[in-house]
Amino acid sequence: MSTEAARPKTLQELRSQRWFASDDIRGFAHRQRMQQQGLAREEFMGRPVIGIVNTWSELSPCHAHLRERAESVKRGVLQAGGYPLELPALSLGEVMVKPTTMIYRNLLAIECEELLRSLPIDGVVLMGGCDKTTPGLVMGALSMDIPAIFLPAGPMMNDRYKGQAVGAGTHTKKFWAERTIGNIGEAEWIRLEARMTRTPGTCNTMGTASTMTAIAEAMGLSLPGAMSIPAVDSEHSRMAWRCGERIVSMVWEDLKPSRIVTKASFLNAVAAYMALGGSTNAAVHLPAMAGRAGIELNIDELDAIARRVPVIANLYPSGEKLMEDFHYAGGLPAVLNRIAAHLDLSARTVTGRTLGENIAGWPAEDDGTILDPAAPLKQGTPECPEAGIALAVLRGNLCPDGAVIKPSAATPELLRHTGRALVFDSNAEMLAAMADEELDCDASTVLVLRNGGPVGGPGMPEWGNLPIPKKLLRRGVRDMLRISDSRMSGTHYGTCVLHVSPESAIGGPLALLKTGDTVRLDIGERRLDMLVSDEELAERRKQWTPPAPAYARGYTKIFQHEVTQAHLGCDFASLAGNAPTPEPPIY
Ligand code: FES
Ligand code: MG
Repeated sequence: MSTEAARPKTLQELRSQRWFASDDIRGFAHRQRMQQQGLAREEFMGRPVIGIVNTWSELSPCHAHLRERAESVKRGVLQAGGYPLELPALSLGEVMVKPTTMIYRNLLAIECEELLRSLPIDGVVLMGGCDKTTPGLVMGALSMDIPAIFLPAGPMMNDRYKGQAVGAGTHTKKFWAERTIGNIGEAEWIRLEARMTRTPGTCNTMGTASTMTAIAEAMGLSLPGAMSIPAVDSEHSRMAWRCGERIVSMVWEDLKPSRIVTKASFLNAVAAYMALGGSTNAAVHLPAMAGRAGIELNIDELDAIARRVPVIANLYPSGEKLMEDFHYAGGLPAVLNRIAAHLDLSARTVTGRTLGENIAGWPAEDDGTILDPAAPLKQGTPECPEAGIALAVLRGNLCPDGAVIKPSAATPELLRHTGRALVFDSNAEMLAAMADEELDCDASTVLVLRNGGPVGGPGMPEWGNLPIPKKLLRRGVRDMLRISDSRMSGTHYGTCVLHVSPESAIGGPLALLKTGDTVRLDIGERRLDMLVSDEELAERRKQWTPPAPAYARGYTKIFQHEVTQAHLGCDFASLAGNAPTPEPPIY
């Protein structure tokens, strides 16, 4: 990555000039086909052409406003002397896309990169925000490495229910637990469908969407303060306009991602992630994004930063406020000011200024939402000092390459726990068992789900927040130790060990665990082990056969062949790295 000051671009050096400026038959055809749309030559010639990669669709409710918002971006581009073009891209609405958006994050990254490479684009505004869209777009832009600015969709507005703030995802899960044991009746359940998600915008808790848009902003890829602006606030349109206006200058400045993003930017992003109590999903996306920039970022570095940086955002699922409150409290710049001691403030950003310059004079305006680091959200207890931190990376004979847990959203008493494993080989089998009133378990049982990893899922679905067995719910149990090679929604909570690596479907030790084995989690030691002898495990390995691949053709077959394990980021092996990719020949 080069961070030396760039020489300003000349008109002749713009990529789009290769398409539009040549006095030959190809140049003629390119200009002709633009004019076919009713454009005058002067509209697109002799100026930067700006792509607006838009992940809007009618099945991405979090992005429902992005089609309209692209118009604000276009106004900004035009007023700054560029020519804007909207490029629709794969829309990964977290709730609707099956089997999981995670399987398509890499496809969006490929699409973003190749759209930009194959078309006459000089700079790009990336429009996304729902969980996988941010890492997908950023990965594509890092690989393509033309000037890029990320425009976050912004969170949905708050809602209240029975006098209490309710958040998308987090409260759905809480209400569903009550519904399954009859505490919520049908009429109330139907009423609740129209609550919690009352406007367009991304989930209003500190779920994966806001975690990832915060990471993009902390890395220097968004305008300061952008990530918390509510989707339907008029300020969101102004911010979109500013993105359009700024990207044109970034093209002339040749301020491309490789001149912004360094190891320091990633470490800043990790510190922000921890201070926010962000989603465990970021522990997969961060190494993948870093890999696209040719930067090594391993999960142990995340663990080290989590030990130092306290959670100071009082947001669901770790705390009890929502993104709209966070915006009024000063948003991400206010958080960054409060953890400035953990940041490299000299890191560059899309503004052309440093991170420190961007956040200067941006105080926290509500100490109940953005807390003083001296009195973080959760202090931990004498028995479990780790209880308040945002992430812990575990190792042990169940997860030699790593696993993660979010202590701040877990039950402190379960963070050091030994119990009997109850193991399920599939999500369907597990879900059926949870409704069984005779299920052989108690509150100390360790619920285990395997075959939910990158290859086994495939795509690491969000199965890792296994429901509590119905019979235990009735007895008042609301949390248990749960372990899987899957992920968990960032809006969810509970004592869930996730991303066990290597995963069971490729023969990771999780594949060898049996119901009745004893499992031990020790958060202080960062250990997760099955108390089974090496000899016994060697015997079991002899008996083990890999599950048959479910897909014999298609994208999923490519995915299963190419995907890396969770601790490495689940990118496709052949997409990582920053080896130069040639510009396409025009002829
Ligand atoms: Fe799109 Fe939560 S479902 S942000
Ligand atoms: Mg989510």
